Amino acid sequence: MIVNKNDEVIIDIEDMGSDGEGIGKYQGYTIFVKNAIIGDKIKAKLMKTKKSYGYGRLMEVIEPSPYRVTPKCPIAGKCGGCSIQHLDYEKQLEYKQNKVKNCLERIGGFPVEEFCKENIMEPIIGMKEPFYYRNKAQFPVGVNKEGKVAIGFYAGRTHSIIDTSHCYIQAPVNDEILQRVRKFIEEYEISVYNEEKQEGLIRHILTRVGFTTGEIMVCLIINGNNLPYKEQFIASLCEISHMTSISININKEKTNVILGDKVKTLWGKPYITDNIGDIKYQISPLSFYQVNPIQTKVLYETALSYADLHGEETVWDLYCGIGTISLFLAQKAKQVYGVEIVPQAIDDAKKNAEINHITNAEFFVGAAEEILPQKYKEDSICADVIVVDPPRKGCEESLLDTIIQMAPKRMVYVSCDPGTLARDLKYLCKKDYEISKIQAVDQFGHSVHVECVVGMQRKDT
Ligand SMILES: C[S@@+](CC[C@H](N)C(=O)[O-])C[C@H]1O[C@@H](n2cnc3c(N)ncnc32)[C@H](O)[C@@H]1O
Repeated sequence: MIVNKNDEVIIDIEDMGSDGEGIGKYQGYTIFVKNAIIGDKIKAKLMKTKKSYGYGRLMEVIEPSPYRVTPKCPIAGKCGGCSIQHLDYEKQLEYKQNKVKNCLERIGGFPVEEFCKENIMEPIIGMKEPFYYRNKAQFPVGVNKEGKVAIGFYAGRTHSIIDTSHCYIQAPVNDEILQRVRKFIEEYEISVYNEEKQEGLIRHILTRVGFTTGEIMVCLIINGNNLPYKEQFIASLCEISHMTSISININKEKTNVILGDKVKTLWGKPYITDNIGDIKYQISPLSFYQVNPIQTKVLYETALSYADLHGEETVWDLYCGIGTISLFLAQKAKQVYGVEIVPQAIDDAKKNAEINHITNAEFFVGAAEEILPQKYKEDSICADVIVVDPPRKGCEESLLDTIIQMAPKRMVYVSCDPGTLARDLKYLCKKDYEISKIQAVDQFGHSVHVECVVGMQRKDT
């Protein structure tokens, strides 16, 4: 072995991995180092060694990369959220574009350089202001080593809570919400959740803010059926202007899943509203809603342009959430069908169609891989365009098979995981489809995540 555990080595960081870790070589031996960035010369201590690669801890930045910046947030290196805040934002964008390219090339086997030359793959669209962009936060609540209440974020890859009172990517009103919830817990001696013992009441605080309306939602996730001193809790939160919805969510399960199935509204409306473009949306605690409203508009407009609608098309929007993309598409299509697995999201979707006076959108609850084949076989429903926007794990192969059988002229694939995107595109392109456009959009500044929209067409059209 060239190196052993606990050895300290000096290396140049030449690349960055999919989790934002720096990658360098010591005499041909590859070392991955968290918090190191491309262009750094560093000293790393080997913590884990395998035959041809190992993991090092950053001990010292000997010569900082020209792309290294001082993070605004003091806990940026520790908190699991902003793992690349110390990388200049323009370089973050380049890193994300390369991440998409690598996945398309390595997993999908696509000729990415050709895609770039032929303008099939466009440069990534970044944010104008990559701070304070998120409309949703989920703060874990627990006890720290000193036995005090901790509210903040999990440290990367752990469940230990880093106490915080300000987050540089969240809506600033969260500071006041956290302060008031913390005071409430301390003043009324409300217990907080202990994951190991499965005891204690308050588990998480979920907040949402409508960026165009200013409306605020606070939902406390609790390990119980009721919140004691709820009148005092409501009174305190209602002092925050634009407070719109206060609720509890019941989660008594031993699980990492944050939200339980049941929500009780304590005060105000069971939802908040927000606008994207000309469409107004109602959003309830359990529903998915894109976290970056400014970039979401860019994302949806791109999806709409790839769908290339002229008013005569039947469109399916699979994994439709609260009908966000469906209602965007409905403005230009003859008929839109949305499918989503969360019943509360479909209730929101139906309501959203109603409040926007959209009558050509219909929604179904269920798994896309079950509903689509069922509707296709039993009701002979067809599709001119199919849009999919799955969670990170991508689409089931059986769903892709049904789509291929239905033979829509165009497809639009919206994805938050370039790896599963590349896998699914490869499957579709082996059959009847080819890629016509790829656009990455940065929805998650300072994290390693990236969103993509891909336009596809049938090879015979
Ligand atoms: C990335 S979100 C997209 C939502 C929506 N298109 C939007 O932009 O707001 C994925 C959605 O798929 C839903 N979902 C997850 N698995 C599903 C499945 N098998 N069938 C249908 N919907 C599913 C989730 O509840 C979530 O709302």
